[in-house]
Amino acid sequence: MHKLSVAFQLNNKSVSLSVDPNDTLLDVLRNQLNLTGTKKGCGKGECGACTVILDGEAVNACLVPIMKVMGCSVQTIEGIGDAEHLHPLQEAFIDKGAIQCGYCTPGMIMSSKALLDKNKTPNQAEIREAIAGNICRCTGYVKIEEAVQAAAEKMRER
Ligand code: FES
Ligand code: FES
Repeated sequence: MHKLSVAFQLNNKSVSLSVDPNDTLLDVLRNQLNLTGTKKGCGKGECGACTVILDGEAVNACLVPIMKVMGCSVQTIEGIGDAEHLHPLQEAFIDKGAIQCGYCTPGMIMSSKALLDKNKTPNQAEIREAIAGNICRCTGYVKIEEAVQAAAEKMRER
């Protein structure tokens, strides 16, 4: 198979690797870089489970050809917090009971983070719009919206 080199910023570190140019960003994150926090649901841009932040915008990684990220900045759920240092969104999702099976959670958090990075005081409509592409089969969304609002408050206080 013909491989090509690609280089980009991933969670604030430079990465350079040889890829199948037909792969998506999601394929490379999960299968080559072992960053399995980003989930694969539909693989067709319909569920939001694979959401990452690409140059400041929430995108479906399953729809991004890997060669398109050349020179870009990519943030995944692994880059925003860890078990010892949770991001305020991660804390709020736990505190508010916004996680059940958890499959949608990394994508929800990345969509929400892209919103809060730009808008520190989002209203309910803005939160709903930000997570409109993220499907959750478990929670009914109310607790997720509450968690994003709580995280926004926490981030304003810090
Ligand atoms: S896996 Fe990418 S949108 Fe569903
Ligand atoms: S918590 Fe199960 S899909 Fe959202």
